[in-house]
Amino acid sequence: MKMWGGRFAGETDPGFLEFSSSIGFDARLYPYDIECTAAWTYALEDAGVLSGDEAGGICGALETVRSEFDDGIFEFEPSDEDIHTAVERRLVELVGSYGGKVRTGRSRNDQVATDMRLFLLDACPALTASVRGLQEVLADKAEEYIELVIPGHTHLQQAQPVLLAHTLLAFLHMLERDVALLNQAASLADILPLGSGALAGTGIAVDRGLLAERLGFSGVSENSLDAVSDRDFVCAALFALTMTMVHLSRLSEQVILWCSSEFGLARLDDSWASGSSLMPQKKNPDGPELVRGKTGRVAGSLMAMLTVMKGLPLAYNRDLQEDKEGLFDAVDTVAASLAVMKGTLGAMTFDAGRAAALSEGGFMTATDLADYLASKGMEFPEAHRLVGEVVAYCVNRGIELTSLSAAELSGFSDELDEEALSCLGVDSSLARRSVTGGTAPESVRRQLARAREMIAGRAP
Ligand code: ARG
Repeated sequence: MKMWGGRFAGETDPGFLEFSSSIGFDARLYPYDIECTAAWTYALEDAGVLSGDEAGGICGALETVRSEFDDGIFEFEPSDEDIHTAVERRLVELVGSYGGKVRTGRSRNDQVATDMRLFLLDACPALTASVRGLQEVLADKAEEYIELVIPGHTHLQQAQPVLLAHTLLAFLHMLERDVALLNQAASLADILPLGSGALAGTGIAVDRGLLAERLGFSGVSENSLDAVSDRDFVCAALFALTMTMVHLSRLSEQVILWCSSEFGLARLDDSWASGSSLMPQKKNPDGPELVRGKTGRVAGSLMAMLTVMKGLPLAYNRDLQEDKEGLFDAVDTVAASLAVMKGTLGAMTFDAGRAAALSEGGFMTATDLADYLASKGMEFPEAHRLVGEVVAYCVNRGIELTSLSAAELSGFSDELDEEALSCLGVDSSLARRSVTGGTAPESVRRQLARAREMIAGRAP
């Protein structure tokens, strides 16, 4: 059953039908299309377009259609060009021609905009729950290894010692911002477009406030032209999903580095690693690599959607059908990536011996020595230069700062006394960073406690 055709004398070219059809990807909107159609049916009943019997018959049949989809037995017809056509066609088959009255005063333009919003109002909280799951694993690992010190890097060069827990919590905080972005996308989606008709507003006297209430929307759109052509909520969701992937990709890269032989800080569990078809010794981090790789397609979908919107004249244009595949793919990709990162990290183990060996060297407490001199009244630039000379001295002799004797150290400056030696230890370097957000064990413990509250939704 075609939804149009009265004014056409000729047949549609099959190639064009295939090109323009969206049923291959919008069928997953069926629960939302059915919900939207049921709500519209009640609105038409309230407006006197449908009798009570008709509305009851239609809503009963819609439940049959829903279970056919749920059970995977819905039979598509070649004429089902999209989910809206398929649902209406089946409805009419089930109840007879009066089923077609549901189309009164409604357009696929306001219908599809409503379906997409309902889809996101489900998807965003589900994704947030998955983000929370990964955050919990990060918090659990932080707690499990709360004592472990690792080298912190800038420019991927060893910089200052930090707690592993501090590093893991950094990713937890990135993900917290993703939750905020997902919430923002959901609140943009939380406006009802139904009742906008094709573009000018429906001609049927429906109570849009009641419709919104029935469908669980917080408000109704104020402008029908905007409502049928607005996909800002899709762009916002794609941005949130892209940011989430960017964060997961950074986490992946960190895991990949940690698991390399050169870092040797972490080991993947066998259950979350792959081997090589040629090299028998290999254990590869394919999961995090794929997550890193899939970030591109999600960012690509955001770019594609922004480009669809750019230059679109009012109001609805078929270009907008291009909102679906990218969004669905992004939602599925992020959900799968979150699950893989949760599994991978949850089963990962860290090597305390290797962490200790790496953290002791690399002149990572040089800044502490400069800070010590500054605390004695030396101007920092002078302290920085002096400690640089001490480092060069060590580099030339192939020794670490901690191998220097008190006599060697005081040779550089009278201020570099016995006490200065005590600044060179990793533990004292950490302990000094007890500011909020710092890597001192007490700060990180506080941070972890706050993070636990935050992901349980109890803290700012
Ligand atoms: N499948 C379309 C979409 O996803 C909805 C149908 C609107 N079609 C139309 N010719 N007005 O946007």
